Amino acid sequence: MSESAAAFFYLVSGVLFILALRGLSHPATSRQGNLLGMVGMGIAILTTLFLAGPSFGGLVLIILGIAIGGTIGAVIAKRIAMTAMPQLVAAFHSLVGLAAVMVAAAALYAPESMGIGTVGAIHGEALVEMSIGVAIGAITFTGSVIAFLKLDGRMSGKPIMLPSRHAINLALAVLLVALVIGFAASESHVLFWLVILVSLALGVLLIIPIGGADMPVVVSMLNSYSGWAAAGIGFTLQNLALIITGALVGSSGAILSYIMCKGMNRSFISVILGGFGGDAGPAGGEDMDDRTVKQGSAEDAAYLMVNANKVIIVPGYGMAVAQAQHPLREMADRLKEAGVEVKYAIHPVAGRMPGHMNVLLAEANVPYDDVFELEDINSEFTQSDVAFVIGANDVTNPAARDDKSSPIYGMPILNVDQAQTCLFVKRSLGSGYAGIDNTLFYKDNTMMLLADAKKMVEDIVKALDH
Ligand code: TAP
Repeated sequence: MSESAAAFFYLVSGVLFILALRGLSHPATSRQGNLLGMVGMGIAILTTLFLAGPSFGGLVLIILGIAIGGTIGAVIAKRIAMTAMPQLVAAFHSLVGLAAVMVAAAALYAPESMGIGTVGAIHGEALVEMSIGVAIGAITFTGSVIAFLKLDGRMSGKPIMLPSRHAINLALAVLLVALVIGFAASESHVLFWLVILVSLALGVLLIIPIGGADMPVVVSMLNSYSGWAAAGIGFTLQNLALIITGALVGSSGAILSYIMCKGMNRSFISVILGGFGGDAGPAGGEDMDDRTVKQGSAEDAAYLMVNANKVIIVPGYGMAVAQAQHPLREMADRLKEAGVEVKYAIHPVAGRMPGHMNVLLAEANVPYDDVFELEDINSEFTQSDVAFVIGANDVTNPAARDDKSSPIYGMPILNVDQAQTCLFVKRSLGSGYAGIDNTLFYKDNTMMLLADAKKMVEDIVKALDH
C-alpha cells in the first residue's frame, strides 16, 4: 500500500474515532459510538498491516497476538461487574504504558526496522520523542498499577504520605529531565534504562499519596498520559493513526479529569498533590452518638410516594452495587400509573465513573427524558414531596454546602434535603466514598430505609401493588 493511501485510511479511522467519542457522549448513541470506534480501529490495524507488509512469520505472530489479546479482552469484558470498571480501566492503562516502553525499547535496539536510523546513529528528533514517550509510558505503567491495587482493594485506599514527598518528587522530576536530555544527546543505552527506572519510581510516588475519593480522577488523568505516550511514539514511528488516536485519548482524558474535578469542586493541582480522603472525621463532632434517626419500612415509603405529586429519584453507587435499577424503574412506573410525576436526578460524580448512573438507568429502559443533570433539576427539590435517595451518599451531603470545615466543602450537591421528605435507602449509617459522615441521616424530614437497595425497592413495589 502506498504512503498516501495509508494516510487516507488513517484519516478515515481518525474521523471514525472522533464520531465514536461523540456517540459515547449519550446513552442513546453510545452503542453506535462503540461500533464506529471498532470499525475505525479495524481500518487502522489493516492499514498498518498492508503498509508494513510483514513477512509470513511476522504476520502469523501478529495474528496470534491479536487472537490471544482479543480473547483475553473479550472474556474480561464479559465477566467484569460495572462497579469494577474503574480498576479495569486502570489495569488496561498500565498495559498501554508498558506497550509505549516496549515500542521505544524496540526502536532503540532495532531502529532500522522503524526507519529512524541505525544503532548508534538514530535521528535526533526520534531520540527526543522516544525518551519523552518512554518516560510518560513508564510513569503511566506503575501509576496505573498502584491505582488498580487501590481501587481493587488489594492495597489500602488511604493516602500514603511519605515525609518530604514533594521534595523527593521534584528531585526525581529534575533528574528525569536531565536523563532525558542526556539520552537524547548521547543515545546511551544506560541512560535509556535509567529514564525508565526513574519514571517507574515517579509513577509509584505520584499515586500513593492520592486517596480513594480522588482515584477516578487519577485514572482518567493516567488515561490522558497513556494517550500522550502513544502520540509520542506515533511521532517516532511516523504513524499518523497513532498520533491521532494518542492525541484524542490524551485530550479526552484531560477533559474528563477536568469535568470530574469540577463535579467535586477540587482543583486539578490539589488532586495531584494528594492526601484527600484519609482520616476525615465525622461531621457533627462529639455529640454524634446522641443524634436520633427516623427509620421507616417499605410500606411507609410506598404510602408517602403514592400520595405525592412529585418524586425525584437520586441514584448513587449503592444502586449500582445492589443492581437495583430494574425494580427501581418498576417502582417509578407504578408511581406514574398512580399519577405521580417522577424524575431522576444525576450528580456528575455519582457512582464510580462518569455516566455510571446514566448507563445503568438506560439498561433498565428508563426514558432518557426522565433523567436530569444536577444543574437542570436542583432547583426542583423545593417543590418536590419526596426525594428518594437510593445508594447515594456523598453527592447529597449538605456538609459540602454548609460546613466550611468539611473536606468536601464546595462540592456541588443535589439539594435532596430541600424536598418535603427525604427517603434514604442504604444498608447502614456508614459513610460514602469520601469517608465523611452525612448529617442528612439525622434531619427531621429524613426517613432512613435501611436495607439492601434492590430488596427495599422490590418490597416497595410489592407494597404499591397492594
Ligand atoms: P457514595 O458516597 O460512595 O455512597 C454510596 C452509598 O451506597 C454508601 O454510603 C453505601 O452505604 C451505599 N450502598 C452500598 N451498597 C449498597 C447496597 N447494596 N444497597 C444499598 N446501599 C448500598 O456514592 P455516591 O453518592 O454515588 O458518590 C460518589 C462518590 O464517588 C463521591 O464521593 C465522588 O466524589 C466519588 N467519585 C466519583 C467519581 C465519578 S466520575 N463518579 C469520580 C471521582 C470520585 P451502606 O454501606 O450503608 O449501604
